Amino acid sequence: MKIAVIGGGGREHAIIKKLKENPAAEHIFALPGNGGMVNEAECVPIKATDLDKIVAFCKEKNVDFVVIAPDDPLIAGLKDMLNAAGIPSFGPDKAAAAIEGSKAFAKELMRKYSIPTARYAVFSDEDAAFAYIDKLTPPIVVKADGPALGKGVIIAESVAEARAAAHDMISGNRFGESGKRVVIEEYLTGPEVSVLAFTDSHTLVPMVSSMDHKRACDGDTGLNTGGMGVVAPNPYYTAEVHERAMKEIFLPTLNAMNAEGRPFKGCLYFGLMITENGPKVIEYNSRFGDPETQAVLPLLKSDLLEIMLATEEERLASVPVEFSDKCSCALVLASKGYPEKYETGYEITENGVQGEIFYAGVKRENGKLVNSGGRVLAVTEVRDDLADAVKAAYEDAERINFKNKYFRRDIGKRALKAIREK
Ligand code: AMP
Ligand code: GLY
Repeated sequence: MKIAVIGGGGREHAIIKKLKENPAAEHIFALPGNGGMVNEAECVPIKATDLDKIVAFCKEKNVDFVVIAPDDPLIAGLKDMLNAAGIPSFGPDKAAAAIEGSKAFAKELMRKYSIPTARYAVFSDEDAAFAYIDKLTPPIVVKADGPALGKGVIIAESVAEARAAAHDMISGNRFGESGKRVVIEEYLTGPEVSVLAFTDSHTLVPMVSSMDHKRACDGDTGLNTGGMGVVAPNPYYTAEVHERAMKEIFLPTLNAMNAEGRPFKGCLYFGLMITENGPKVIEYNSRFGDPETQAVLPLLKSDLLEIMLATEEERLASVPVEFSDKCSCALVLASKGYPEKYETGYEITENGVQGEIFYAGVKRENGKLVNSGGRVLAVTEVRDDLADAVKAAYEDAERINFKNKYFRRDIGKRALKAIREK
C-alpha cells in the first residue's frame, strides 16, 4: 500500500512509525514531513494547507490511503476533496471538522444535546459582549470562535481585561476572521484530561487517557504552548470518570453529530476538565493531539493501519483496539525562547537514547539535522510505572544535545503526586 500522511510534526512522526509496524504500509509519503523522519517516510515538499497540490500528488502517485493529521486541512475540507477524487482517507470531512473549526458550533452542539460544558454566550457585537462581561465575576474566559494556532483563549483576571480581549477579537485586530465571533464562558477548575478516541460514527473507542502540560515553564507558568510534555495514562481519569465521560460526553457527542447530519469519522479529541460536578468538555479537536499522540500511540498494541482503514470503512467494531497497561512519558525538547522568539539552525546530536524520538521542528542542512522550529522533538519512554517512564525520559533528554535546548523539569510531577495520594 502507498500511504500519504499529511503534516510535518512530532505527531505525524509518531503516526508514521506506528503505521510502519504493518508490513502492508510499503511506502509512506510525508507531506511535507520533516528532516527527522527520512528513515521512515519519503518527505515531499507540499504544505499541509496546499489542498489542491496534495490531491494532485496523491492522484499522480496512486496513493491508496491518506492520513490527514493536522486541523487546518481537515477544517478546510481536504477529506471532501479526496472523497471527490476517489481516494480513501482517515479524518473527518469539513462538516464534521467544524466541531474543532468553530467553537460557537461546538458550544451550541453541547447545549442542544445537553453535553456538560462551561456555561457560555456567543457574540459578534462588541456592546452586547461588554454588557454580558460586566455581569460576570472574573476570571472570565474569552475565546476566538475560529482556529487561532492554539492561542485563541484568554483567561481574563478582571472585567477590564475581558473587555479588552473581546474588543481586540471582535474588531479583527487579534486572530483576524477567527476572532470576529467570540465565545465568553464560565471559568471551570479541576484537573485536565485529554482523551483521544477512534470513531467511525457508529462505534467509539477511546484510547488511553493522557495529561498534556501546555504552559511553557515549570509549575504551569509562562505562556501557553502547543504542549511541553505528556504522560499517559492520566491518573485523574479514573474508571468512574471514564464511565461518566462515556455516558455523558463521548457517546452523546457521537450521536449529536449523527443527528446533525455531520457523522464524524477519524480521531475525536476530548479536552476534559474533571470538575466537582463531573467531567466537562473544555474543547473538542477533530484530530490527534500533539504531543498527546507521541505518548499514546507507543502504548497501542493493535495495528494502527488496520484501525484507520476500519474507521474509514465504518467497521471499527470488527477490529481489535488494545492498549498496553504500561505508562509513558513524552518529553518535549524545545528551542529556548519558544513560544516566542528563538534561534534555529543548531545541530542536533544524540548519544545512547533508550526511548523513541519523534522529530518536529527540524530540518536537514548539509546532511546535518538542525532545529528549525520551537518544539524540536519529543522523546518517549514506556515503563511499567509512570515514575520510571518519567525518569527515563529525563535521562534521554540529557543524551540529546543542541544549542539552546530547553525543556520543562516537571513533566509528570503533578500526575505522580496524584498517584501517590490515591
Ligand atoms: P483550549 O484552546 O480551548 O484548549 O483552551 C486552552 C486552555 O485554556 C485549556 O487547556 C484550559 O486550561 C483553559 N481553559 C479553556 N476554557 C476554560 C474554562 N472554561 N475554564 C477554565 N479554563 C479554561
Ligand atoms: N496538545 C493539544 C492539542 O493538540 O491541541
